[in-house]
Amino acid sequence: AAVKKYQFDVQMKNVSRLCNAKPIVTVNGMFPGPTVYAREGDRVIINVTNHVQYNLSIHWHGLKQYRNGWADGPAYITQCPMQTGQSYVYDFNVTGQRGTLWWHAHILWLRATVYGAIVILPQPGKPYPFPQPYQETNIVLGEWWNRDVETAVNQANQLGAPPPMSDAHTINGKPGPLFPCSEKHTFVVEVEAGKTYLLRIVNAALNDELFFGIAGHDMTVVEIDAVYTKPFTTKFILIGPGQTTNVLVKTDRSPNRYFMAAGPFMDAPVSVDNKTATAILQYKGVPNTVIPILPKLPSSNDTSFALDYNGKLRSLNTPNFPALVPLKVDRRLFYTIGLGINACPTCVNGTNLAASINNITFIMPKIALLKAHYFNLPGVFRTDFPDRPPKAFNYTGVPLTANLGTSTGTRLSRVKFNTTIELVLQDTNLLTVESHPFHLHGYNFFVVGTGVGNFDPKKDPAKFNLIDPPERNTVGVPTGGWAAIRFRADNPGVWFMHCHLEVHTMWGLKMAFVVENGNTPELSVLPPPKDYPSC
Ligand code: C2O
Repeated sequence: AAVKKYQFDVQMKNVSRLCNAKPIVTVNGMFPGPTVYAREGDRVIINVTNHVQYNLSIHWHGLKQYRNGWADGPAYITQCPMQTGQSYVYDFNVTGQRGTLWWHAHILWLRATVYGAIVILPQPGKPYPFPQPYQETNIVLGEWWNRDVETAVNQANQLGAPPPMSDAHTINGKPGPLFPCSEKHTFVVEVEAGKTYLLRIVNAALNDELFFGIAGHDMTVVEIDAVYTKPFTTKFILIGPGQTTNVLVKTDRSPNRYFMAAGPFMDAPVSVDNKTATAILQYKGVPNTVIPILPKLPSSNDTSFALDYNGKLRSLNTPNFPALVPLKVDRRLFYTIGLGINACPTCVNGTNLAASINNITFIMPKIALLKAHYFNLPGVFRTDFPDRPPKAFNYTGVPLTANLGTSTGTRLSRVKFNTTIELVLQDTNLLTVESHPFHLHGYNFFVVGTGVGNFDPKKDPAKFNLIDPPERNTVGVPTGGWAAIRFRADNPGVWFMHCHLEVHTMWGLKMAFVVENGNTPELSVLPPPKDYPSC
């Protein structure tokens, strides 16, 4: 195992896109930021220095950070943010994981421009469990705002209104030639005919699930969220914010220029999709003057494609890469995802957009929860987060009135070390027409079942896949439906769980688990590093 060191200088950089120039927050002046490379088993040391006027922290999305939440990154959950001029060293081991993950700022909306890929290669001598690709390319999907995102979001917050939609989607930071002034802001990957390429696709968009496809080419899905899958072939993938997908592509078509395209699933308003990002797959020797062929992505409300696609995802589950699904459940949780309008006397129009889990809107603490937990600081959080909503109702009924009232609090759920948890996430769709990509820090989990409508505790568990369910760190809870996940709570610490649509996180669609220590120092949270930022 090696030690990989990185210096991340967080600094402003003038960037022009869509005929517009503005300063954005970047790492090392790059947009997207640098890729972190490591091998399974390596130690990674990243010194982050904050040179901007914003408070900041960085999250290594999907890395389990065993006993080491100090390096996880979500502001006020595992650490206080770095203030201007401060540095913090994220020091962690990459154990038992290989594949594509990513990193991003984890405070307010800074991740709009502060993100990049993490590539964890298998240990030397351990090949991929699929044909060795000739070359690999990262495809990091994002969004671009012509406005200053922070200001716009703050204004929206004060008015109790939704924040502004982005102006374009991007592929590796570039919207592609379908947008004005964007000819030169187009990502191009040059390929040789007759080879196999591995695309490492990351959805770093703030608020949109995305379809991705390549004109004329099929893709073979081989990995999601850094876990190998049973390969299957598809024309398009669906990828939620927070998720990653590796695909193999054979360059077996006539030499030409082909568009790769990323466009939204269930964007609002669904009828207007003027934000499709494109990049170019260019066969060697084909002149740049050839107009590329455009793929026709599924329409933005194609729910049946989404259901069908997600249904094909299966863990590889071979002796080398077993799916260790917990078969016995120690504790069952049922969380409703509430999204609606709350009475808010202080708001301009008397209402406020609020989001809740089991009718609780999460309030961010002033002191990092992991610190409060480790040092036993009283009064920072409570551990009485309810295992189920206050009362059962028709979660997906229309009109929905039962779930409007929420209470607020910094309430966590306390979990015994090494117990097995089954969590059913039940959407109570009210306002929006999108699925919720739920992300759990510190863990992977198995998605043992999903469905539309209300979860039925009598009938649905019989249909769970306990053999080869997809293992991931972010699951799309279907609109007006549910997702059931299982995991073993073997990583002590405080772990955030939230919707990875940034607008929903902002409205309170988040909570955290406190996983207790095991009964030896080796099964307990490590001590904090010396330079751990204080508030
Ligand atoms: Cu990728 Cu808590 O986030």
